[in-house]
Amino acid sequence: MTQRKGIILAGGTGSRLFPITMGVSKQLLPIYDKPMIYYPLTVLMLAGIRDIAVITTPQDRDQFQRTLGNGAQWGVSLTYIEQPSPDGLAQAYLLAEGFLSGAPSAMVLGDNIFFGHGLPEMLAAADQRAKGGTVFGYHVADPERYGVVGFDQDGNVTEIVEKPSTPPSNFAITGLYFLDGTAPERARAVTPSERGELEIVTLLESYRTDGALQVEQMGRGYAWLDTGTHASLLDAGNFVRTLTDRQGLQSGSPEEVGYRQGWITREELMARAKMFEKTEYGRYLQAL
Ligand code: G1P
Repeated sequence: MTQRKGIILAGGTGSRLFPITMGVSKQLLPIYDKPMIYYPLTVLMLAGIRDIAVITTPQDRDQFQRTLGNGAQWGVSLTYIEQPSPDGLAQAYLLAEGFLSGAPSAMVLGDNIFFGHGLPEMLAAADQRAKGGTVFGYHVADPERYGVVGFDQDGNVTEIVEKPSTPPSNFAITGLYFLDGTAPERARAVTPSERGELEIVTLLESYRTDGALQVEQMGRGYAWLDTGTHASLLDAGNFVRTLTDRQGLQSGSPEEVGYRQGWITREELMARAKMFEKTEYGRYLQAL
């Protein structure tokens, strides 16, 4: 199988977070001690993906490049792609078509945070499926804010709908999509929704109607956190802080994941640790 490539979609400014995002990309705001985008980035790295495109608005591209560079410090390769206007999540596959050049992909939204025991295994299983797509359903209290899965009595997926006013279930589709090499071609057939966007759910529906969509349940032992409002942003930071303090372990550290994957050497890790030596994070990297 062709090596799966990664996409991080980091467009838009987070309109519900104004005024704190003014001048700063939402995905670069801190979640406790690290930029938000470190968390989805490390999800792709945990899935074994090293070739990653970051999709940003033309205005925000510099900020991302300054923060993340070319990825070599973590043993990955980062490519930047501009999204001239935010026309929906499925547009990412059109923009990334050349980058993907037929390869299967894993796309993660730059503001989605995942935490859970067994995450690497779940990602590995999705990566193994060369054909079709895999997405993750997660039980939430407010499904009307997301893409939602409908099931029949036997538990088969019957539909995926975007922000339904009467949700068919409590299972939201998280912002992590493993799709095969046909995604760009399928995305071309997606027409704009009523709100004028190329909806990811329409693309997923194309897989589903072909019998090619796997919806995995991310159980209650996982945390899928939202960072879309001031309150949820603070909650996500507190969640990370609570875990880090209690366990003495980091989540969302590209240095740690790159090192454990064997993509950077001990010396390279130590160079990063030195850079952050005045912080807890630097001391943590040193202790690895
Ligand atoms: C997007 C998708 C939605 C998905 C959600 C996950 O919504 O359209 O299907 O459930 O991301 O974060 P948005 O955040 O653009 O409202």
